[in-house]
Amino acid sequence: MNSPAMDPRPEPAFQLQWREALSVHNDAIDRDHRWLIELVDRIQSLILRRASLAQLTVALDELARYTEEHFTREEAIQRAAGYPHLGEHHRAHETLKRQLQDLTGRILAQPVDRTTLDALDDDTRRDLLSLLRSWLIDHIIKEDLQLRPWLERFPRDWNPADAPSRPPEKTHQTATPG
Ligand SMILES: [Fe+2]
Repeated sequence: MNSPAMDPRPEPAFQLQWREALSVHNDAIDRDHRWLIELVDRIQSLILRRASLAQLTVALDELARYTEEHFTREEAIQRAAGYPHLGEHHRAHETLKRQLQDLTGRILAQPVDRTTLDALDDDTRRDLLSLLRSWLIDHIIKEDLQLRPWLERFPRDWNPADAPSRPPEKTHQTATPG
Protein backbone atom coordinates (compact mmCIF):
# COMPACT_ATOMS: atom_id res chain seq x y z
CA MET A 1 0.00 0.00 0.00
CA ASN A 2 1.33 3.41 -0.87
CA SER A 3 1.17 6.20 1.62
CA PRO A 4 -0.02 9.50 0.18
CA ALA A 5 2.79 11.77 -0.92
CA MET A 6 3.33 14.92 1.10
CA ASP A 7 1.84 17.81 -0.76
CA PRO A 8 3.71 21.04 -0.14
CA ARG A 9 0.59 23.01 -1.03
CA PRO A 10 -2.37 21.10 0.36
CA GLU A 11 -5.70 21.85 -1.24
CA PRO A 12 -7.91 23.96 0.99
CA ALA A 13 -10.87 22.10 2.46
CA PHE A 14 -14.16 23.82 1.97
CA GLN A 15 -17.32 22.97 3.75
CA LEU A 16 -20.75 24.45 3.34
CA GLN A 17 -23.59 23.33 5.58
CA TRP A 18 -27.09 24.05 4.46
CA ARG A 19 -28.80 26.42 6.85
CA GLU A 20 -31.97 28.50 6.92
CA ALA A 21 -30.11 31.57 5.63
CA LEU A 22 -29.61 29.69 2.35
CA SER A 23 -33.32 29.06 1.89
CA VAL A 24 -34.94 30.54 -1.22
CA HIS A 25 -38.35 30.10 0.44
CA ASN A 26 -39.30 27.14 -1.70
CA ASP A 27 -39.12 23.63 -0.27
CA ALA A 28 -38.50 21.87 -3.60
CA ILE A 29 -35.53 24.07 -4.49
CA ASP A 30 -34.19 23.99 -0.93
CA ARG A 31 -34.30 20.18 -0.93
CA ASP A 32 -32.37 20.12 -4.19
CA HIS A 33 -29.77 22.50 -2.83
CA ARG A 34 -29.27 20.44 0.30
CA TRP A 35 -28.64 17.40 -1.85
CA LEU A 36 -26.31 19.28 -4.21
CA ILE A 37 -24.31 20.48 -1.21
CA GLU A 38 -23.97 16.88 -0.04
CA LEU A 39 -22.90 15.69 -3.49
CA VAL A 40 -20.30 18.44 -3.80
CA ASP A 41 -19.05 17.68 -0.30
CA ARG A 42 -18.72 14.01 -1.20
CA ILE A 43 -16.78 14.78 -4.37
CA GLN A 44 -14.49 17.14 -2.51
CA SER A 45 -13.69 14.53 0.07
CA LEU A 46 -12.98 11.97 -2.69
CA ILE A 47 -10.49 14.41 -4.21
CA LEU A 48 -8.85 15.23 -0.90
CA ARG A 49 -8.62 11.55 0.05
CA ARG A 50 -7.33 10.77 -3.44
CA ALA A 51 -9.93 8.08 -3.86
CA SER A 52 -10.04 6.10 -7.07
CA LEU A 53 -10.82 7.77 -10.34
CA ALA A 54 -13.66 5.29 -10.80
CA GLN A 55 -15.34 6.54 -7.61
CA LEU A 56 -14.78 10.13 -8.65
CA THR A 57 -16.32 9.68 -12.08
CA VAL A 58 -19.38 7.95 -10.59
CA ALA A 59 -19.85 10.89 -8.21
CA LEU A 60 -19.30 13.48 -10.96
CA ASP A 61 -21.80 11.68 -13.14
CA GLU A 62 -24.35 11.76 -10.34
CA LEU A 63 -23.70 15.48 -9.84
CA ALA A 64 -24.21 16.11 -13.57
CA ARG A 65 -27.47 14.15 -13.65
CA TYR A 66 -28.92 15.71 -10.51
CA THR A 67 -27.85 19.16 -11.61
CA GLU A 68 -29.69 18.74 -14.89
CA GLU A 69 -32.81 17.70 -13.01
CA HIS A 70 -32.49 20.52 -10.51
CA PHE A 71 -31.92 23.24 -13.11
CA THR A 72 -34.98 22.07 -15.04
CA ARG A 73 -37.11 22.14 -11.89
CA GLU A 74 -35.75 25.47 -10.73
CA GLU A 75 -36.38 27.10 -14.11
CA ALA A 76 -39.92 25.71 -14.21
CA ILE A 77 -40.62 27.23 -10.78
CA GLN A 78 -39.08 30.53 -11.87
CA ARG A 79 -41.23 30.52 -14.99
CA ALA A 80 -44.41 29.76 -13.04
CA ALA A 81 -43.52 32.48 -10.53
CA GLY A 82 -43.01 35.02 -13.30
CA TYR A 83 -39.38 35.59 -12.30
CA PRO A 84 -38.07 38.37 -14.56
CA HIS A 85 -34.44 37.20 -14.81
CA LEU A 86 -35.21 33.73 -16.15
CA GLY A 87 -33.15 34.13 -19.33
CA GLU A 88 -30.09 35.28 -17.44
CA HIS A 89 -30.42 32.50 -14.90
CA HIS A 90 -30.85 29.92 -17.65
CA ARG A 91 -27.61 31.09 -19.29
CA ALA A 92 -25.81 30.80 -15.95
CA HIS A 93 -27.11 27.22 -15.64
CA GLU A 94 -25.87 26.39 -19.14
CA THR A 95 -22.43 27.76 -18.28
CA LEU A 96 -22.23 25.71 -15.08
CA LYS A 97 -23.21 22.54 -16.94
CA ARG A 98 -20.65 23.19 -19.66
CA GLN A 99 -17.89 23.84 -17.13
CA LEU A 100 -18.64 20.58 -15.37
CA GLN A 101 -18.70 18.66 -18.67
CA ASP A 102 -15.41 20.22 -19.81
CA LEU A 103 -13.65 19.43 -16.60
CA THR A 104 -15.01 15.89 -16.43
CA GLY A 105 -13.84 15.40 -20.02
CA ARG A 106 -10.40 16.69 -19.09
CA ILE A 107 -10.18 14.25 -16.19
CA LEU A 108 -11.28 11.30 -18.30
CA ALA A 109 -8.83 12.23 -21.06
CA GLN A 110 -5.82 11.98 -18.74
CA PRO A 111 -3.69 8.89 -19.12
CA VAL A 112 -3.92 8.04 -15.44
CA ASP A 113 -3.95 4.94 -13.33
CA ARG A 114 -7.70 4.60 -12.74
CA THR A 115 -7.20 3.04 -9.32
CA THR A 116 -5.87 6.25 -7.83
CA LEU A 117 -6.23 9.97 -8.25
CA ASP A 118 -2.57 10.54 -7.46
CA ALA A 119 -1.89 10.81 -11.15
CA LEU A 120 -4.26 13.76 -11.55
CA ASP A 121 -2.12 16.80 -12.02
CA ASP A 122 -2.31 19.55 -9.43
CA ASP A 123 -3.92 21.97 -11.85
CA THR A 124 -6.78 19.60 -12.63
CA ARG A 125 -7.31 18.82 -8.97
CA ARG A 126 -7.36 22.50 -8.05
CA ASP A 127 -9.62 23.42 -10.97
CA LEU A 128 -12.07 20.76 -9.91
CA LEU A 129 -12.09 21.94 -6.29
CA SER A 130 -12.50 25.52 -7.33
CA LEU A 131 -15.30 24.72 -9.77
CA LEU A 132 -17.18 22.86 -7.03
CA ARG A 133 -16.69 25.79 -4.69
CA SER A 134 -17.92 28.30 -7.26
CA TRP A 135 -20.96 26.10 -7.89
CA LEU A 136 -21.92 26.35 -4.27
CA ILE A 137 -21.06 29.96 -3.68
CA ASP A 138 -21.93 31.53 -7.00
CA HIS A 139 -24.92 29.42 -7.88
CA ILE A 140 -26.67 28.55 -4.65
CA ILE A 141 -25.65 31.46 -2.48
CA LYS A 142 -25.36 34.40 -4.82
CA GLU A 143 -27.62 33.66 -7.77
CA ASP A 144 -30.36 31.56 -6.25
CA LEU A 145 -30.79 33.73 -3.17
CA GLN A 146 -31.97 36.47 -5.51
CA LEU A 147 -35.05 34.29 -6.05
CA ARG A 148 -36.06 34.56 -2.42
CA PRO A 149 -37.93 37.90 -2.48
CA TRP A 150 -39.80 36.61 -5.52
CA LEU A 151 -40.67 33.24 -4.03
CA GLU A 152 -41.75 34.74 -0.73
CA ARG A 153 -44.96 35.70 -2.51
CA PHE A 154 -45.86 32.02 -2.64
CA PRO A 155 -46.31 29.40 0.06
CA ARG A 156 -43.10 27.66 0.93
CA ASP A 157 -44.43 24.32 -0.26
CA TRP A 158 -45.67 25.78 -3.55
CA ASN A 159 -44.63 23.50 -6.36
CA PRO A 160 -46.20 24.08 -9.78
CA ALA A 161 -47.36 20.98 -11.58
CA ASP A 162 -44.60 21.13 -14.18
CA ALA A 163 -41.86 21.09 -11.58
CA PRO A 164 -42.27 17.78 -9.75
CA SER A 165 -39.96 17.54 -6.80
CA ARG A 166 -37.92 14.48 -6.14
CA PRO A 167 -36.82 14.41 -2.52
CA PRO A 168 -33.17 13.46 -2.23
CA GLU A 169 -32.70 9.83 -1.39
CA LYS A 170 -29.78 8.75 0.68
CA THR A 171 -29.53 5.28 -0.75
CA HIS A 172 -26.69 5.96 -3.19
CA GLN A 173 -23.96 3.37 -3.13
CA THR A 174 -21.15 5.87 -2.62
CA ALA A 175 -22.87 7.18 0.52
CA THR A 176 -22.34 3.91 2.34
CA PRO A 177 -18.89 3.42 3.76
CA GLY A 178 -17.37 0.09 2.87
FE1 LIG B 1 -30.26 26.15 -7.82
